[in-house]
Amino acid sequence: MFEYCRPAWAVEMRNIHQFMELSREVKYIFTGKRMKKRKRLIQALAENYRDGEAPPCAHFGECGGCLFQDISYKNQLALKEEYLRTELGDVCDVGPVRPSMPYGYRGRMDMVTAFGKVGLRKRGSYRRVVDIESCAIMQEKSNTMFREIRPLVSSVEDYDYLRHEGYLRYVVLRQGMYTGELMVNFVVAMPEDRLGGVIEALPDGVDSVSILVTGGRADVSFGEVWKTVRGGTIGERLGDLRFSIAPNSFFQSNSSIALLMYERIRSMVKGRTLDLYSGVGSISLFVAGAADSVTGVEMNPEGVAMAEHNRELNGIENARFVHGDVLGYLRECEDRYDTVVLDPPRAGMHPAAAALLSRLAPERIVYMSCNPSSFREDLSALADYRVESFEAFDMFPQTPHIETLALLIRR
Ligand SMILES: C[S@@+](CC[C@H](N)C(=O)[O-])C[C@H]1O[C@@H](n2cnc3c(N)ncnc32)[C@H](O)[C@@H]1O
Repeated sequence: MFEYCRPAWAVEMRNIHQFMELSREVKYIFTGKRMKKRKRLIQALAENYRDGEAPPCAHFGECGGCLFQDISYKNQLALKEEYLRTELGDVCDVGPVRPSMPYGYRGRMDMVTAFGKVGLRKRGSYRRVVDIESCAIMQEKSNTMFREIRPLVSSVEDYDYLRHEGYLRYVVLRQGMYTGELMVNFVVAMPEDRLGGVIEALPDGVDSVSILVTGGRADVSFGEVWKTVRGGTIGERLGDLRFSIAPNSFFQSNSSIALLMYERIRSMVKGRTLDLYSGVGSISLFVAGAADSVTGVEMNPEGVAMAEHNRELNGIENARFVHGDVLGYLRECEDRYDTVVLDPPRAGMHPAAAALLSRLAPERIVYMSCNPSSFREDLSALADYRVESFEAFDMFPQTPHIETLALLIRR
């Protein structure tokens, strides 16, 4: 059932539609109610921490991207700590949240092109878009390039995502924090080049340019790579390792915090290691030196292919990557592991996968999570484990999101 990755990462793209369908389905089933509860709790807490900080961004209040610019960074960290205590205090020992640089950290920004605007969704409204000139949380070079790209794309027919008519859906900017390499993806509704002179006029500082096609009704900012106009990938460096990032592959959005977290994960890993939801293999490869062997499991074919490419790039020999669904992998798994690393999407693990993981019975589980409430649910399914340590990292300043890391040891 599982395909072992072939070195040529591009050949795996035929499965992208399957991947897109599956991830949409999983997201739909798991997120709704929990997200609302979490949002209400954070909004209520935020009222106590709002301290009249002057927001640096002209779009603050109207744009839905940042919610906390009117709260000092010190208070944002205190707010997140209190939120974690409320959500997880009875099961984890919650301490201070590790800070990030408060602005200019994001390595990815998806600019919507709709209703004659180029920008981000209006706060509280999916149906409206706010024109954005620059974004305070996006990295500086991305902002400089966006200011040049913005007037170019405003002459291209955009896509009305309510009526499902038109052409250009998103302009996605991605940047490696430690390399400065920059990628621009044009996500369009049909396999046609209607970008006019935009491509020719793009600044030299853009290292990779691709046209991605996503034809369905779902509002997604990825798609099949229809044309690679420049480059095709960008690089990022975390510690001594270098990673290639392709247009559709996941990469942590704040590299400085990812590096801190990966160093902690590496200190927790021992023996034969399984990295579930391995993306482009960044955790697997980062911890490989501390493990006997690492197996990464990822359902995005492009991610798996990039992981294999990244493995070769860094000359790592004790890691391998499996293309497949975590649930299916755990159902069929006959290997034994000492450590399992988990970094699931926001919805957390499939409940059946958590039960199978418990049955696999590794001595330790290192759980990296971007959603405390799904982490909590998964934790209750892993009743044979106790929380040895728990840490929180501010991967997403100015927003309610928070990343956590827990080491679980089998009782
Ligand atoms: C939060 S990201 C973690 C990525 C990875 N740790 C990294 O740093 O690159 C979650 C990843 O899980 C993958 N994913 C989501 N659901 C999955 C499933 N059921 N089986 C396997 N992979 C899945 C996504 O494609 C995504 O790459």
